[in-house]
Amino acid sequence: MRDIRVSTPSRAYDVHVGTDLLAGVGSMVREAAGGHVVSVITDDNVAPLYADEVCASLERAGYDTYCGVIAAGERSKNYHTWSTVCEGLAQAHMTRDDVVVALGGGVVGDLAGFAAASYMRGCQVAQVPTSLLAMVDSSVGGKTAIDLEAGKNLVGAFLQPSVVVADVGCLRTLSRELLTDSCGEVIKHAVLADADLLDDIASVPVNGLPVDPERLERVVARNVEIKRDVVDADETERGRRQTLNLGHTIGHAIESASGYSLGHGTCVAAGLCMVTRATAALGLTPARVAERVCETVASYGLPTTSDLPADVLFEAACSDKKRHGDAINVVVVRDIGEVEVRPFSLDEFRSLLDLACGRA
Ligand SMILES: NC(=O)c1ccc[n+]([C@@H]2O[C@H](COP(=O)([O-])OP(=O)(O)OC[C@H]3O[C@@H](n4cnc5c(N)ncnc54)[C@H](O)[C@@H]3O)[C@@H](O)[C@H]2O)c1
Ligand SMILES: [Zn+2]
Repeated sequence: MRDIRVSTPSRAYDVHVGTDLLAGVGSMVREAAGGHVVSVITDDNVAPLYADEVCASLERAGYDTYCGVIAAGERSKNYHTWSTVCEGLAQAHMTRDDVVVALGGGVVGDLAGFAAASYMRGCQVAQVPTSLLAMVDSSVGGKTAIDLEAGKNLVGAFLQPSVVVADVGCLRTLSRELLTDSCGEVIKHAVLADADLLDDIASVPVNGLPVDPERLERVVARNVEIKRDVVDADETERGRRQTLNLGHTIGHAIESASGYSLGHGTCVAAGLCMVTRATAALGLTPARVAERVCETVASYGLPTTSDLPADVLFEAACSDKKRHGDAINVVVVRDIGEVEVRPFSLDEFRSLLDLACGRA
């Protein structure tokens, strides 16, 4: 098992990365969070696979344990489900000292995390991510959210978890498609912070089946360290944390303009390639770096571009919450492992999108 310590101003906690850790979740939560009652929130795909083992472990650790199951999928990340989950916490007689365990992918992590952040103005959350995306990204860093009709993640809060238990053994039951989708974020992390990791994941793809737990442990742990380094320096995204949005300005625009029919990591992969090619055309990114990024993304079977017209992407990007007045911050790749956040005026950004879409 590898332990990574995250130390933000609001809380310090461990991320335990290993294989077949679920039977130890109870003692890890006990040690990190204390409390008397635990509500496990999970979805109806993950519950039949892992909920019994996690609940039994929590009971062995002395917790009164409850389990709430939501319907799987992004459509559950709304205030109706949030309210049902919070009613469940109240019925379990949870107090502020007690713990929500988010067992699942990023949807469960964001929703259960937001329930924990808002119930009684904040109780504790332990994140037990079961998808690769949740392990490398959403379970670490304390962002929680639900979606509105008006857009994704528009209501939320920062709540750092008390502990994160990432059991890569759970990835054995993830579909190849979802494993591949998550690799969009893995490639993003490597491009923004670690040339060696990019060499590693480019030479032997991490979405191969059957999954190799030893290798995934290393890759997940390195991704967590990369995110940790950024989050430790800037918990609430005033500065450096914005670098994690690499590929996301265009990625989010593709995601929303395609009606969320494509996976998040897939859109980020395309956004990463498109922005990097465009900034290469502007002379901000070396051409060889842009080529390397696109080759790596393509080798995973992820898209390096989008068919959506630049004006559609522009409109979608302008309504994103990451827009700052008349400017949009774009994360520019200077080299593998070196990025810069650069404000683009809306006109400049429109031209960037023309380049990104291959029309300029
Ligand atoms: N908070 C953050 O910092 C942050 C960062 C990135 C993404 N997110 C959010 O994360 C969400 C996407 O996360 P996701 O890709 O994990 O989606 P998800 O939670 O919908 O999980 C994808 C699918 O995989 C299933 N699943 C999960 N683990 C499994 C396993 N081990 N075996 C079999 N099936 C399994 C789920 O039931 C679901 O059907 C989005 O809502 C996004 O906004 C949040
Ligand atoms: Zn993302």
